[in-house]
Amino acid sequence: MGIETEIQQLKQQRQALILAHNYTLPEIQDAADFVGDSLELSVRARDCQAPLIVFCGVRFMAETAKILSPDSVVLHPNPRAGCPMADMAEVPAVERYRRDNPGTVLLAYVNTTAAVKTMVDICCTSGNAEAVLKSIPAGQKIMFLPDANLGRNLSAKLARPMELWPGFCPTHNRITPEIIRKAQSQWPGALTLVHLECHPSVVALADQALSTGGMLKYARSAASKRFIIGTESGLVYRLKKENPDKEFLTLSPEPLCPNMKKISLDDVLFALRDLAPAVELPGEVIEKARRPIEKMLAMK
Ligand code: 13P
Ligand code: SF4
Repeated sequence: MGIETEIQQLKQQRQALILAHNYTLPEIQDAADFVGDSLELSVRARDCQAPLIVFCGVRFMAETAKILSPDSVVLHPNPRAGCPMADMAEVPAVERYRRDNPGTVLLAYVNTTAAVKTMVDICCTSGNAEAVLKSIPAGQKIMFLPDANLGRNLSAKLARPMELWPGFCPTHNRITPEIIRKAQSQWPGALTLVHLECHPSVVALADQALSTGGMLKYARSAASKRFIIGTESGLVYRLKKENPDKEFLTLSPEPLCPNMKKISLDDVLFALRDLAPAVELPGEVIEKARRPIEKMLAMK
């Protein structure tokens, strides 16, 4: 029996739901019940009522699933899959900032640890960041953490000044204007879609700057047949699968998130067999971290 069949059989026995992010390996996306961006995955985790969730993505995403579905067992098949950007906002530094700036709203990208979420006012993802930012009264001082690129892109689009935490995504930061220009000269006339985590100089060359879910929606409905994709290349697998009549060019060098690629089919099978490793968070952390996430979900 192939590993894919074994996973499907065990999944049924366990009444498990497999959730996977758009950047995971193709075989993980194919094994999943639902593939999505970080916002869509949060909503699924909250609403699924499954006793067991196998979360294929990086750690902060699995933690978010546990926070929103605390009665489910949430398995993170490879606990070494973390997000370096999330780790750039460390608890003592955020605590210090909070203490020294009592009147400032802390707006946290969902790419933060559960412990940091307990200290912030509201969360956002790249799929809802504009709506969340617009919900904060004009004139209110805001610290956006940890992604300075996303913060700068939002700030410029909505003309809202914000203080920015000096974090970044190593994968998206490696995408330069030169790399985009090279792709554009290879495919003149193609639409360029980039992720909002890219540097503003890259966003300036794009037709659209979106979340991964936003890029999927846009490519599906746009009349154009050719797209240059400025994000982690796992998304290109899904774009091609869902739009066989369209063409998608990934960048060179290929943007890869090594952490998203750490989750293998073996890891998923062993997680389902052993019911481990499970995401464990103290009850107090779940309760406090849920507040800023629920505020953001109420925005939808
Ligand atoms: P999305 O919310 O667009 O899926 O992005 C998550 C992420 O980590 C991008 O690097
Ligand atoms: Fe984190 Fe970047 Fe990987 Fe997204 S692509 S999970 S932000 S390191």
